[in-house]
Amino acid sequence: MRGKEAEDFVRVVTSEVKDEEREFDAALRPRWLGEFVGQARIKEQLELLVEGARARGEPLDHVLLSGPPGLGKTTLAGIVANEIGVGFRPTSGPALERAGDLAAILTNLEEGDVLFVDEVHRMPRTVEEVLYPALEDFKLDVIIGKGPSARSIRLELPRFTLVAATTRPGRITLPLRERFGFSPRLDYYSDHELAQVVNRSAGILGVQVEKGGAEEIAQRSRGTPRIANRLLRRVRDYAQVRGDGTVTEESAKLALALFEVDERGLDKLDLAILLALVTKFQGGPVGLSTLGAAVAEETETIEDVYEPYLLQIGFLKRTPRGRMATAAAYAHLGVSPPAATGLF
Ligand SMILES: Nc1ncnc2c1ncn2[C@@H]1O[C@H](COP(=O)(O)OP(=O)(O)OP(=O)(O)O)[C@@H](O)[C@H]1O
Ligand SMILES: [Mg+2]
Repeated sequence: MRGKEAEDFVRVVTSEVKDEEREFDAALRPRWLGEFVGQARIKEQLELLVEGARARGEPLDHVLLSGPPGLGKTTLAGIVANEIGVGFRPTSGPALERAGDLAAILTNLEEGDVLFVDEVHRMPRTVEEVLYPALEDFKLDVIIGKGPSARSIRLELPRFTLVAATTRPGRITLPLRERFGFSPRLDYYSDHELAQVVNRSAGILGVQVEKGGAEEIAQRSRGTPRIANRLLRRVRDYAQVRGDGTVTEESAKLALALFEVDERGLDKLDLAILLALVTKFQGGPVGLSTLGAAVAEETETIEDVYEPYLLQIGFLKRTPRGRMATAAAYAHLGVSPPAATGLF
């Protein structure tokens, strides 16, 4: 395949993967707090908030959920609406291009509804300003007419709860941040919790999973439930085609090796990032955009998706002058660290 043909192929393959993933996400998504694995403290806090709001017959305080992709922000937002027993109205920061887009959504809400704004850090500033009075007083200022005859009127909105999600809490402006009553940050899951996620999903999908199989998948899931579900799917395929369908420790190991997910859950791009750091930049420090160029990946993807986990497991270090590989990263790659730097 060459040129356009190859591009089309890649587009079809990746969009199919995304569709498949979306369907699985929906099928495996917990709908109640009781089904939601891990994040014990956040669950308890939310339970309290929901109970309190229910008892007072008031809408829940606005909630800002932050954390790396795939940890359950969208899931929790849906759960909140379910638990209170109100409507769930999803949208996203980039979809709200103009103030009118937000106004249309706000005026169509019903009393108590949960308005979910995903990627809220990507909401334009002009839209954000419309949101402030809506969040504070459930009021919407609209301008009618143009030029000298234009006038502003104030509309009453139904009382609603904003649940916003972001992978980049640092990008949220202070005035917006201050309007949330509860702003939990989701953490990576433990292997034990991820094994629970795998077992729960296997139950829904009707797949037999042995204890060792669930543990093997959990260890390679980068602390992320979405990845645990994705790997379970790959291992299930493998076990069905090459075995009797049961996910064992051995079939999980073989399947994940085949799909190039290593023992720490690192994939080709993680390894490319570490290798580039170590071989091209002598371990760093190197700037994120230079690193992105070296592995032909967008800076934002590296920063949002790859870097947080590499930092978490101590393979990468952030310094004022850029990113550096750690001794643990060298050991994982099987490369000797440079002796002369005195860093190791
Ligand atoms: N705590 C959990 N228990 C069980 N399954 C979970 C949990 N958290 C997430 N999942 C699973 O992982 C999938 C991804 O979660 P979700 O879409 O909520 O992540 P997210 O944080 O919104 O990610 P993104 O930042 O990419 O939007 C869900 O569909 C669900 O199947
Ligand atoms: Mg989401």
